Amino acid sequence: MENQGMQRRPHVVLVPAPLQGHLSPMLELGTLLHSKGFSIIIAHTIFNSPDPCNHPEFSFLPIPDNLGDQTAAAANLMTLIITMNNNCEAPLTEILAEFMKRNDQHDQICCIIYDMIMYVSGAVADKLQLPCMILRTSAASAAAAYEHLPRLNAEGYFPLQDSKLQDLVPGLHPLRLKDFATADMGNIKDIIEISAITNNTRNASALIWNTVDHLEHTALALVQQAYPVKFFPIGPIHKMAPPSSTSLLQADSNCMAWLDKQAPHSVIYVSIGSIAIMEEKELAEIAWGLANSSQPFLWVVRPGSVRGSEWIELLPEGFKETVGERGCIVKWTPQRKVLAHVAVGGFWSHCGWNSALESISEGVPMICRPCFADQNINARYLSEFWKVGLHMDGQLDRVKIATTIKRLIMDKEGLEIRQNANAMKEKTKLSVAKGGSSYSSLNELAKLILSNQLPK
Ligand code: UDX
Repeated sequence: MENQGMQRRPHVVLVPAPLQGHLSPMLELGTLLHSKGFSIIIAHTIFNSPDPCNHPEFSFLPIPDNLGDQTAAAANLMTLIITMNNNCEAPLTEILAEFMKRNDQHDQICCIIYDMIMYVSGAVADKLQLPCMILRTSAASAAAAYEHLPRLNAEGYFPLQDSKLQDLVPGLHPLRLKDFATADMGNIKDIIEISAITNNTRNASALIWNTVDHLEHTALALVQQAYPVKFFPIGPIHKMAPPSSTSLLQADSNCMAWLDKQAPHSVIYVSIGSIAIMEEKELAEIAWGLANSSQPFLWVVRPGSVRGSEWIELLPEGFKETVGERGCIVKWTPQRKVLAHVAVGGFWSHCGWNSALESISEGVPMICRPCFADQNINARYLSEFWKVGLHMDGQLDRVKIATTIKRLIMDKEGLEIRQNANAMKEKTKLSVAKGGSSYSSLNELAKLILSNQLPK
């Protein structure tokens, strides 16, 4: 088609991973790049696909992933990642090649940006001779820590021995061996293998990080030693981009009206993110812990997040009557709005990286209760290094839960943590404002993509 005087926008193809904590930062990166003059094409799996209605400014290219919702939901994370990549390589190549054939040489794709776990996109970019970059949606501290897995394995640390779990890992302050717990991810050899695949920067010209330099300056410098490509820390991406709807699940906004009725900084907000699940016994301990804390609470229980249940039918008898209006339980919240609400006094989180960044951005102190993988590392950094949370470690029981909530919301200890969280919030605000580190990094990233000097 002829260009009728309209300036053409260079096309950037984004390949998100179809998991909530990965999808949101990629879509928001799209919004940011669109505001810098790029045309955005989202090449996405059919499984957990984003809703095009929420992003009329983007084009969407579905990848026939051949996964099927049932297969995808049944797979464990590691299997899902591998199957997804195997299934997507050919169709992704095909749809992009088709796009390139349709468009003339002045209207071509200038770069593919893919989520690190959609690693096969690197091979696709190779085949089509297109430049590419990788978006990392987890913390640089976690990346730096996992770089040590092969060494720890070679030194005989795995399988982890119970008697050594609390030992500090030499050279990796503040991490303990326990924070490398891998049982829930598979065997150590598989983990090292998949890490090597997802960490392979191949032909990528840059790594884009959803993190902020003031938090992770040292970790970024450490990881940079292993990957000699350009780094662009542009996070928290959700604070850089204007608000948009990126949620796969429908949020229940009634909880906002409930929050409006609570006293400032009184509510403990509880969520284990989009993937983690729990046992019925844990549900009961959490329920009674929240009840016994005497604080108001907003609790997200995702349907199916309790093994063997539909939703909250397994809550212990008498619990609802005991807490009455003091508790609000929902299936999914508008989390960023919740964290920005003045009533929220603390966030009990599984410490997924998005939740961590969202809490830090609003100055909300945390109770860190990781469930698996990088969440363990994030929890340790949040509590021991940035000191914006209390780590609720070990066996989950109602007494410990109630005590930890009180420590965070009522005690002097909690006040100090809140002050640290607020200081982080202010620094983060500066980073995303004009002239700040993330703001400048995004401008450099856009300039680099536009320069047409990316290696193919
Ligand atoms: C996954 C991995 O588990 C984690 O280890 C990795 O760091 C990121 O991906 P996930 O469970 O998706 O984490 O958690 P997180 O990264 O915190 O992302 C969850 C997202 O869902 C957040 O953006 C949060 O705002 C949103 N959310 C969560 C809601 O909007 N409403 C809710 O009720 C709960």
